[in-house]
Amino acid sequence: MAITGAKTNSDIPPMSRKRWSEQAQKNMAEWSRGIPTVLGDNWQETLGEEANQLYNAQAVVYLTLPKGYTPWSLFDLGAFSQNILLVTTEQGIGSIVAYNFVKYPQILREELNIPSDEEIIVGIGLGFEDEQAQVNRITSKRMGTESILKIKK
Ligand SMILES: Cc1cc2nc3c(=O)[nH]c(=O)nc-3n(C[C@H](O)[C@H](O)[C@H](O)COP(=O)(O)O)c2cc1C
Repeated sequence: MAITGAKTNSDIPPMSRKRWSEQAQKNMAEWSRGIPTVLGDNWQETLGEEANQLYNAQAVVYLTLPKGYTPWSLFDLGAFSQNILLVTTEQGIGSIVAYNFVKYPQILREELNIPSDEEIIVGIGLGFEDEQAQVNRITSKRMGTESILKIKK
């Protein structure tokens, strides 16, 4: 695939990190801080190359919604994609949900024959995981359950 640096144009626009909540920004910063320990100082380049190769996924599932969908449908689609992740994991298949699969929707529409009245929401790469691949060694911290879950008695 030729790398052209063409402007990305996903059907769902990404939002600048600065506009996310303070907590979300902290989580993202924490994630970025840990990566160089695994991938070294050129981590952005390495991740970019992996993305350009579509993570060497053997298959990609594309999830779409009809144009004009209610935002509630995004909830449903998220739940549906989680089920895909769970069932493929159970079958021993690795997965990665990624913006990088959907950043050039026009090409996808042409190559995959996706009608113009369908919005391309996200892609899920599937395949047998290469445990030696550096990107698969990235681990992320999670906020403690007690800080995101309030049980009222
Ligand atoms: C909508 C969405 C888009 C994502 N896009 C990317 C992406 O383009 N590149 C990437 O490396 N991870 C992306 N991720 C994150 C990965 O799919 C994954 O959630 C993250 O690496 C955490 O993985 P883990 O749960 O195995 O730690 C995206 C996640 C979501 C939910």
